[in-house]
Amino acid sequence: MCGIFGYLGSKNSIKACLTGLKLLEYRGYDSAGIAAIKKGRLIQFKASGKIKALEKKINMKDLKLNLAIGHTRWATHGPAIEKNAHPHLDEKNSVAIVHNGIIENYNILKKSFKLKQTKFRSETDSEVIAQLFSINYKNDLVLATIETLKQLKGSLAIVAIHKDHPNEIIAAKRESPLAIGYDDKKTEFIISSDPNAFSGRNLNVIFLKNDEIAHIKNGDITVIDLKNNKILKTPQKLNSKNLTFSKKGFDHYLLKEIFDQPITVQKAFIDRLTENDEIEFENFNLDKKFLKSIDNIIITACGTSYHASLIAKTFLQEKAKIFISSEIASEMRFKNLIFTKNTLVIAISQSGETADTVAALKTAKENNAKTLAIVNVQNSTISRMCDSSIFLKAGLEVSVCSTKAFSSQITVLYLFAIYLARLKNMKKKESTSFLNELKTIPRKIKKTLKDFDLIHEKAKKYSQYENFFFLGRNLMYPTAMEAALKLKEISYLNANAYPAGEMKHGPLALIDSKLIVIAFCANKKTYDKMLSNLMEAKARNAQILAFATKKSYGIEDIADDVIWLEETSDELAIFPSTVASQLFAYFIAKIRKTDIDHPRNLAKTVTVE
Ligand code: AGP
Ligand code: GLU
Repeated sequence: MCGIFGYLGSKNSIKACLTGLKLLEYRGYDSAGIAAIKKGRLIQFKASGKIKALEKKINMKDLKLNLAIGHTRWATHGPAIEKNAHPHLDEKNSVAIVHNGIIENYNILKKSFKLKQTKFRSETDSEVIAQLFSINYKNDLVLATIETLKQLKGSLAIVAIHKDHPNEIIAAKRESPLAIGYDDKKTEFIISSDPNAFSGRNLNVIFLKNDEIAHIKNGDITVIDLKNNKILKTPQKLNSKNLTFSKKGFDHYLLKEIFDQPITVQKAFIDRLTENDEIEFENFNLDKKFLKSIDNIIITACGTSYHASLIAKTFLQEKAKIFISSEIASEMRFKNLIFTKNTLVIAISQSGETADTVAALKTAKENNAKTLAIVNVQNSTISRMCDSSIFLKAGLEVSVCSTKAFSSQITVLYLFAIYLARLKNMKKKESTSFLNELKTIPRKIKKTLKDFDLIHEKAKKYSQYENFFFLGRNLMYPTAMEAALKLKEISYLNANAYPAGEMKHGPLALIDSKLIVIAFCANKKTYDKMLSNLMEAKARNAQILAFATKKSYGIEDIADDVIWLEETSDELAIFPSTVASQLFAYFIAKIRKTDIDHPRNLAKTVTVE
C-alpha cells in the first residue's frame, strides 16, 4: 500500500513532504522517510513507526530546500525496520526512489549480471529500482526511467530524484495509483499516491496511466510513454476541501465513526428518495434500457466491503430476480466467470483504491461488462474506472477498521436493489413497507448506541478469552462475518464466523468452556433453527453471548448474556446487530489496550495485490 509523495516548488519541500505524508498515513504506518538534495548531495531521514517519529528526527534548521520525496510504508518485503524504510538510494548515493507496489522479479534482478556485484542495504524489493536506475543512468533521467521500467515486473508507482538534477523530479506508474497536481502559475508541483494529499488546495491534476512517466523540470511537466513519445494530458481542476481530522471528543476515530452512523446511514438514502418514494441517484449514467436488460450481476469487493456485497447479493437477487454472484476481488480475476452480454459488475469500496478490486474491475472491462462503483471517496481510481458511481456520502473514514462505510454501503445497495427491481418487475407498492422501515433505521441505530454501557460491561466479561465463534444464519451470517472481522482486526483475537447450521459438520469439535459463541439471532426466518444450533453448542459447554431483538422468545434461557436490539425486518436487522457488535469489538480492544485506530500490520487503503 504505502503513501508516496514528491514536492518540487517554491515552498519548504521537507515541510510539504511531512504534511503530505500525514495525509497519506492511512495507506501505511510501518515506517516513513524523506530524501532531498542539499548542496549537490542526497540527504535522507528515516524512522520506523509513524510520521511523528520521523518528524522528531528532522531538524528543520538549514533545510529550506525546494525538492523532496517522501514515503509512508506498509511493508510487503522485509520487516518494518528503519533500514527497510523508503526512500532507497543506489550504491553510489546518486539516486533516491520511493515506491508503492511489488517488484515481482526483484530476486531475479538482484542475481542478474547487472546487479550481482551490487551491495544492497535493505531487504526490500524496492531497492532494486534505485540500483537499476543508477546503472541505467547515462546523464538522462527519462531514458534511465524508461530502461528501468522495461526491466521491472509487477506493480509500481515511483518517484525519483537524482543528485545531479536538483530541480527535476521523475514519476512513473504501473498498476499502483499516482496523481500529479500543480498550481496555475506552475510554481509548485506535488506528486502523490492519491488526491488526499492535495487537501485544501486548488490544483490542476493529472492521473498517470500505466507505463507513463512524468518529468517535471523548469516549471513544466512532460509525460512520456515507454517509447519516449510525448503524451498529451488534460488536467482536471480539483478544488479539494481541507480534510479535517477530528475525533469530536471521542477517545478514538473508531468510536466517533461508530457514533456517526445514525447520520451517515440517513445521508445515504435521504436525498435519493423523493417525496413519492421515487429513487434517484445523482449523476447516474447507466442507461435504463441496459438496466432493464441486465441478466447477470457480479459484485466484487474485499474485506468489510465484501461482507456488504454478501448482504446485497441476497437482497438484490430476491428483489430484482436476477442471477447474482459475489466475488472476493482478489480471487475474481483467476476464475473464468461467465459474462453475458448484459452483465453488470458492481465494485464496492470505501477507499476506491483497493488494488484487488481494481484488478477485478479490469477483468470486468476486458469482458465488456458495464461497471458500477459504490464508493466513498470521490475521484478515486475505482470511481474513475467505472461507467457510473454511487457515492456513500459517509464522510472521511479515518479508522483503519471500517464501520460507517459498511452501513452506508448496505443502505446504498438496498436502494439500488429496489431501483433496479422496479425497473425490472416490482410494483412500487411492494417496496413501501421496506422503505418506511428503512427510514426508521437511523433512530434504531441511535437506540442501539444508547446501550453503550451495557455493551461495555459484556465486553469486560468476555475480554479475557482468546477464541470466539461468531454464528448467524441467513443475513445474520454475513453480519457475523463482519462482526468477527472487527474483533480480529482491532483486538488481535481469534474470531471465526460460521453459518450456525454448519457447526455440526466439523467446527463443533472445537467447542469447550473456554470458547465464546457470539450468536446473531435477529433473523426471524431462521430464529428457531438458530436456537437449536445454540443448544447444540451449549450442550458442549460453550458460553454464549447473543444479539437478539426485543421480541425474541427463548434465547434468554439458552444464552449466558443477551444484548437486546430494536425490532425491525429481517433485511434491516443487520443495522442494529452490526452497530452493537462494533461497540463490543471496540470495548474489547480498548480493554486489551491495542492501537485501535491503527491496528498492527494493517493499512486503511490496500494498494498491493
Ligand atoms: C475493514 O475493517 C478493513 N480494514 C478492510 O477489510 C477493508 O474493508 C478492505 O481492505 C476493503 O477496503 P475498501 O473498502 O477501501 O476497498
Ligand atoms: N514493496 C515495497 C516495500 O515492501 C513497497 C510496499 C507497498 O507499496 O506496500 O517496501
